[in-house]
Amino acid sequence: MTGCFITIEGGEGAGKSTAQKTLAELLRERGHAVTCTREPGGTPLAEAIRQTLLSVDGESPVEMTELLLVFAARAQHLSRVIEPALNRGEWVICDRFTDATYAYQGAARGLSLEAIAHLEQLVQGDRRPDATILLDMPPEVGLARARARGSLDRFEREDILFFERVRAGYLERAKAHPNQYSVIDATQPLESVGLALAAFIEARLGE
Ligand code: TMP
Repeated sequence: MTGCFITIEGGEGAGKSTAQKTLAELLRERGHAVTCTREPGGTPLAEAIRQTLLSVDGESPVEMTELLLVFAARAQHLSRVIEPALNRGEWVICDRFTDATYAYQGAARGLSLEAIAHLEQLVQGDRRPDATILLDMPPEVGLARARARGSLDRFEREDILFFERVRAGYLERAKAHPNQYSVIDATQPLESVGLALAAFIEARLGE
């Protein structure tokens, strides 16, 4: 028995946490066991790596260090949380995963996509999300929301061009992997996003 691995992606302030809660509720109402988790993070060690990645104090990691830290956290998270939950037959809903690495470290920071693919294979083996929801919105809308939440982390301090590259990177991956991605317009009212998420779950359960 193996569960279903769903990831949620998008820029800052796109509503990923709300979408994760909505998906989990929809599944639990239908009697499914769900593990909600996030990246970078999801275990004490991976959350410590997250703190290092997001911190604005002290020495900033160079691009390659950032990439390796993201995958170090992912190795721990996969082995301690994601794989065990899937093996118990649960649904795993993860706020960000490797598509974020392609968008942030690849498209936005400019690291080689081949290097990312190599690390993906090394760390994950054949494990890939069964489906990915991309909450798409123009970065200025999401950033305004993120800024309204309070102090900004190291990524949120990047300029608008960085987030335009993140968005373009995600949309390119969605286009290249149409069977994996469901793109939802995150500028819609919350209720419409909720309906799109419900339709996504119905389609997945129907498969
Ligand atoms: P969050 O605030 O949306 O939870 O994500 C934390 C930040 O980490 C976000 O700005 C994107 C960044 N990130 C990467 O740069 N690469 C990755 O692989 C992941 C998972 C997140």
